[in-house]
Amino acid sequence: MTKTNADPKKVLFTETVLRDANQSLIATRLKYSEFKDILPTMDKAGYYSVECWGGAVFDVCLRYLDEDPWQRLRDLRKNLPNTKLQMLLRGQNLLGYKHYPDEIVKMFVQKSVENGIDIIRIFDALNDLRNIEVATTAAIKAGATVSGTLSYTQSPVHTLEKFAKQAKEMEDMGVATICVKDMAGVMTPREAYDLIGAIKAEVKIPVVLHTHCTTGMAYLTYMKAIEAGVDIIDTATSCFSGGTSQPATETLNYALKQFGYETGLDDAVLKQVNDFFKPLRDAYIKDGTLNPKMMATDTDALNYKVPGGMLSNLVSQLKAQNAMDRFEEVLIETPKVRKDLGYPPLVTPMSQMVGVQATSNVLAGERYKNISKEVKAYCRGEYGTAPAPIDPEVLKKALGDEKPIEGRYADTLEPVFEKTKAELAGTAKSDEDVLSYILFPQVTEKYFAARKAKEEKIVKYTITPVEE
Ligand code: CO
Repeated sequence: MTKTNADPKKVLFTETVLRDANQSLIATRLKYSEFKDILPTMDKAGYYSVECWGGAVFDVCLRYLDEDPWQRLRDLRKNLPNTKLQMLLRGQNLLGYKHYPDEIVKMFVQKSVENGIDIIRIFDALNDLRNIEVATTAAIKAGATVSGTLSYTQSPVHTLEKFAKQAKEMEDMGVATICVKDMAGVMTPREAYDLIGAIKAEVKIPVVLHTHCTTGMAYLTYMKAIEAGVDIIDTATSCFSGGTSQPATETLNYALKQFGYETGLDDAVLKQVNDFFKPLRDAYIKDGTLNPKMMATDTDALNYKVPGGMLSNLVSQLKAQNAMDRFEEVLIETPKVRKDLGYPPLVTPMSQMVGVQATSNVLAGERYKNISKEVKAYCRGEYGTAPAPIDPEVLKKALGDEKPIEGRYADTLEPVFEKTKAELAGTAKSDEDVLSYILFPQVTEKYFAARKAKEEKIVKYTITPVEE
């Protein structure tokens, strides 16, 4: 295999403790106040970037932590002045699961950059590149580094050629790096070697690999990806690594340096970072937020060819319906439904849609007797184009005589920003507030109310003594 990497002896690291490790292990519950003191140290570690925003961070800040996610971002910016701040963005869905009009996508990207983001990793669950195009163009225009991202999955239509071709299309779109995102942690070392090699042969820009330790393969997967020329890997400080999270930063740094790779990381700083997070991890184990099982290896996904997170969802669905005795049948039905639906990657929200449909097909005793409104919307093309054609019979059962939409779903959406801003006059204090509301209306409304109550209390407290 020909290496196209200009400097094959260099591997850079993205630290994920503030976003993906935090999200995968403790449902994104780290508060800003808990980790702010380590930021000046992290700033000296030599990471390629720190993934710290996007994904579930935004929603959880508003919903559970009583934090303004925009304020968190500005604080991160201030305390990590020399580090590239990275976020994860779901293309036309931004940080959620529905499509937003182009004006909202553009504005959200613009505001993310204005408030401090340097690198935006942009993906679409179906790898429908039309769904990342608007966000990508807006991010480049705003001055961000865009990492064009492919959602990794295995299927007869997800070939090396297809992935490599899509990587090239993203390079032509103007992205700065290509990221292969194995969100389910199912990529094997063999697959990584072949895929990274195929993409490196097709594009000139750096290639990033993202995976999870879930099935125990991630260290081997990274090693083979590095042999194939991958430039950047995602890792988490060791006490927040393993299991459903990423491989450990210190471990890979140590091993790679011995092979002669330059990582740019400072060993002493990495130790300080880990020493800081250890007591936090222990406290989260103690209060039950972190289930130690999440940090262990679970190979069930390899046997069943279903991602770990989806397996646990299937189990809880069946338990709720008192039907655990049908588990094996549902497991056999799941890949069939996925095939019928054109092999969508089994990631949120497709994993839930496929799982629910498979369960319903088994429990109802008739395939596609019931079809959820989400699967109908998927068949209509509201999520984008399926990787392979949807089975015509399933399509007919889902839509009847209705025809799937032509073109991009977002083109059918009306602008909402000015209207929402007018509705929120007096409540929203900034355009960022309006965007928070558009993304998560109920949650943000509650956050606004709590913020107002807090402010009134402060005003009362500071004014009263003067009057007395
Ligand atoms: Co991930």
